[in-house]
Amino acid sequence: MIAKEYISELKHRGNGDITSLVNTQKDVGNINFIFESLSIENTTPCFYTGDSLNILKRIPSESIDCCMTSPPYWGQRCYENGGIGLESKPEHFIDNLLKITKEIQRVLKNAGSFWLNIGDTYKNKSLQGIPWRIAIRMMDEQGWILRNDVIWNKHKGAMDSSSDKLRNIHEMIFHFVKSNDYYYNDEAIRMNPQTTTVRNGAIVSSSGVCGVRYKRQIELSTSLSKEEKAMAMQDLLQVLQKVEKSEIPDFRMIIRNQQRATHSDSERVSGRAKELKEKGYYFLFYSKNGALPTDIWEILPEDTQNREKHYAVYPEDLCKIPILSTCPPDGIVLDPFCGSGTTNKVAYDLQRRSIGIDISQEYINIAKQRVSQLHLNLF
Ligand SMILES: C[S@@+](CC[C@H](N)C(=O)[O-])C[C@H]1O[C@@H](n2cnc3c(N)ncnc32)[C@H](O)[C@@H]1O
Repeated sequence: MIAKEYISELKHRGNGDITSLVNTQKDVGNINFIFESLSIENTTPCFYTGDSLNILKRIPSESIDCCMTSPPYWGQRCYENGGIGLESKPEHFIDNLLKITKEIQRVLKNAGSFWLNIGDTYKNKSLQGIPWRIAIRMMDEQGWILRNDVIWNKHKGAMDSSSDKLRNIHEMIFHFVKSNDYYYNDEAIRMNPQTTTVRNGAIVSSSGVCGVRYKRQIELSTSLSKEEKAMAMQDLLQVLQKVEKSEIPDFRMIIRNQQRATHSDSERVSGRAKELKEKGYYFLFYSKNGALPTDIWEILPEDTQNREKHYAVYPEDLCKIPILSTCPPDGIVLDPFCGSGTTNKVAYDLQRRSIGIDISQEYINIAKQRVSQLHLNLF
């Protein structure tokens, strides 16, 4: 049956909504048809019910731009339809998850990104180190490149009655890429562009730097030669002029034996150490478009969603940086453990196409409700 006829049949069976019907083996086998037919204008998420590994195998290679997911944590919860996470040993859980990360690697485009949120588990009093065990195996055995290990500071954790260890309030989010040549839109996630201001008649940078302290440090320095002092003063005045014209919102000056340098002292590993040794100073400039977020994310856990139906929903804010920075506007986001569809909801809000997979039909139904499912108008 050709794609057009097949999709007409699905639409007929589902009163126009094909996504709820892609459940039978035959339907799953036809994901390619449906997938390739999705138009760029239609950002309504596509949901598939079933085992992630099976469904991933039917998604074409190098077709996904960004994968963001939170698999079940090992040994913690039993979801509606079982699935991954119920293995007797962490090693078996990691083996199963690695089969999935291998498929994710295949379906990701060469410039694609994979954001993996995973928490740890205690067994016999010992933290299992599961997130890092997974990350290291992904790098060693599958060749993933790890760009960031983000700490999600949840500010509050699960109930914990133990009195012999600290309370746990963080989880890991790893950012993996397939190649060095990956898509990354830093401008989309820079925060609070800063501006210069006038204070007591003087132009000061966004963080209050007006150059007086640096000028004095240069003049009084016993580590700079006369020539170095002259050069440093000249360069500083030029930088201050740029601040005045708002060409630079902020800067820092590092002067030999004055400021604590933020790099390795070894000239072999650091260009800045070399500059400091040869010139006696260097500048650090802040971007006009604001700073990039750090790798510690302060995001409260989700408790607005209906926890009786799905109790591991992650917050929408967790998906914003990954999608904005690593999924181009015409790209496709994938969540192979989509649960209540948070990733897809955010992708939809940010006008990206997305695919969600979950083993539980009930969760897929919740996901569909959340994104106020529109009918797909493929033809
Ligand atoms: C941590 S939850 C994801 C929650 C999701 N991020 C959200 O915000 O709702 C993990 C999900 O993985 C699903 N799951 C477990 N094993 C699976 C498998 N083998 N294939 C597909 N989904 C699976 C569970 O049903 C559960 O909904």
